[in-house]
Amino acid sequence: MPSYRIHSCDSAQQEVFERLSKGEKGVMVHCDHQKKGEGRRLRPWFSAKRAVAMSFDLDPNSKLSLTSLELGVLSCEFLRSLGLRVGLKWPNDLLLESGRKCGGILIQSKQGALVAGIGINLFSPNEEVPDELKGKLGGLYENDEQDPWELAQNLYAYICANRLSAKSVLEKWKTLCYHLNAQVTALEDAEKIKGKFLGIGEDGEALIETPLEIKRVYNASLVL
Ligand code: BTN
Repeated sequence: MPSYRIHSCDSAQQEVFERLSKGEKGVMVHCDHQKKGEGRRLRPWFSAKRAVAMSFDLDPNSKLSLTSLELGVLSCEFLRSLGLRVGLKWPNDLLLESGRKCGGILIQSKQGALVAGIGINLFSPNEEVPDELKGKLGGLYENDEQDPWELAQNLYAYICANRLSAKSVLEKWKTLCYHLNAQVTALEDAEKIKGKFLGIGEDGEALIETPLEIKRVYNASLVL
């Protein structure tokens, strides 16, 4: 599986789509300085000066809707195997124990190809972070000892070697989630759903207990 390291690009995600359109397959691209990173729900993604910004094409999970959760689980497992304290926030944010977000996962599909992007901020002193994200984002390391490219290659190898069944994704996701049974607000387009986060359903949807019912939320952002 070829892996490419690019010094600078707009988005590693688009670099992979471009290579796929030229007939390549099974590629991983890491971009040291990603300038126009894309996040979930059409949001921009901010990469710190030292950050993993990697994208790769992949086969979907046997249950397509669990693919991004699967990558969240594998990324979290991998980082924990390095002794790092990281957990998951639905659907697939990587959180530090402080509750700050250090990473996220994006899945996009185009012309039958599925491309996953993983962004992890390693070290982001406050002055680098845009004002609106101050206090919300965190870096995985307190210093600059970790090489993002090396981390990306090892994470990619771990993912390729440890793909999960749908059943394992559902089981493992719960054990890695930092906010089971917490009060949450799900922001779904125009709707706000407040309640207790009970876990995830068979399709990876959030189960939120409101005073009236258990709501199944498929596409939203969660505020803890
Ligand atoms: C999110 O939490 O909203 C998902 C963030 C995904 C960011 C990664 S960085 C590598 C790849 N390239 C992008 O433009 N986005 C993804």
